[in-house]
Amino acid sequence: MSDPSTPVQVRTGPLPTPEADEVRELAARAAAVDGIAPLSEQPLLWLEDDQARVAHLLARDEDGTLTGYAQLDVSLAATVRGELVVDPAHRRRGVGRALLAAGAPVTDDVLDRVLHVWAHGDLPAARAFAADAGMPVVRELWQMRLEPLERGGDVVLPPGVTLRQFVPGQDEDAWRRVNSRAFAHHPEQGRMTSADLRARELEAWFDPAGFLLAERDGKLLGSVWTKVHPAGEHGPVPVGEIYVVGVDPDAQGLGLGSALTVAGLNHLAARGLSAAILYTGAENTVAIRTYRRAGFEKSATDVMFGSDTRRSPTGATMAP
Ligand SMILES: CC(C)(COP(=O)(O)OP(=O)(O)OC[C@H]1O[C@@H](n2cnc3c(N)ncnc32)[C@H](O)[C@@H]1OP(=O)(O)O)[C@@H](O)C(=O)NCCC(=O)NCCS
Repeated sequence: MSDPSTPVQVRTGPLPTPEADEVRELAARAAAVDGIAPLSEQPLLWLEDDQARVAHLLARDEDGTLTGYAQLDVSLAATVRGELVVDPAHRRRGVGRALLAAGAPVTDDVLDRVLHVWAHGDLPAARAFAADAGMPVVRELWQMRLEPLERGGDVVLPPGVTLRQFVPGQDEDAWRRVNSRAFAHHPEQGRMTSADLRARELEAWFDPAGFLLAERDGKLLGSVWTKVHPAGEHGPVPVGEIYVVGVDPDAQGLGLGSALTVAGLNHLAARGLSAAILYTGAENTVAIRTYRRAGFEKSATDVMFGSDTRRSPTGATMAP
């Protein structure tokens, strides 16, 4: 049953820790029921970040319990990108619809933008919800998985190319330059700022030993960055991720992408991990071919729904 009175508070600025914890707990309850985390890494990092250009949308019931949360990234000129989750115990009561409606004025500000919402796992509820909201699929992201992960793949580097570890405090600018060239057409990866990079370096999982740079004559050509997820995040065992592989456009076509992928996998296998995952755009056939060759198979899909959400706002309140 739809309850049009669901109040939604729209906030900007960092959430206080107890409120950020409520969001994390809500996301964990949804993940336990849905089998997939509803909020990805970046929105979780932005919950308490005072530099983040995001709006937090918080739906609460009459007792003040958090029943739904959406985060809208308002940093782009043409689109507003969001993630949205409703507590499993409060679904089919219009909470999701109220969150979308509250997002409409944020999206349709002076810039008149389009809203894009990521749904992780391509769940039937998200498909039905997006269809009800008149939001068609605009992008698909694949998760690919390799299991069992074995050691010892051959890292065949082009002539003159060597690998070394990333050095924090030294390699950021060069890495960002190559990353933005490699992902010039990628909506998120190509615009990683120094602050985004620094935030990741401060995370507990960050390990320069799993972040390898390929150079020729001291010039950075590409890199592979890996990440280790503890047991529970992607199944019962810890899982390694090929987090970012990027090759400068000038060095593409030399087999460096494959070599870096294998180097990343060897690092993860040497750390004792038995499975690896990665994410790639469903349309990126070149990358998918490379990853299939390394043994990866498609394991899940994330779907982005898009719309022009000009609707009448209901129950939205703006707080500082
Ligand atoms: C998708 C999600 C946000 C929906 O939240 P919700 O509060 O249950 O949605 P609402 O009650 O506002 O539903 C609005 C309409 O969407 C459709 N809908 C929502 N869930 C549905 C389901 N499980 N099956 C069929 N239709 C569904 C219905 O048309 C519904 O209207 P109705 O209840 O009057 O028939 C929620 O299931 C969720 O958090 N899922 C996991 C996270 C996720 O996938 N987020 C991305 C969403 S694009």
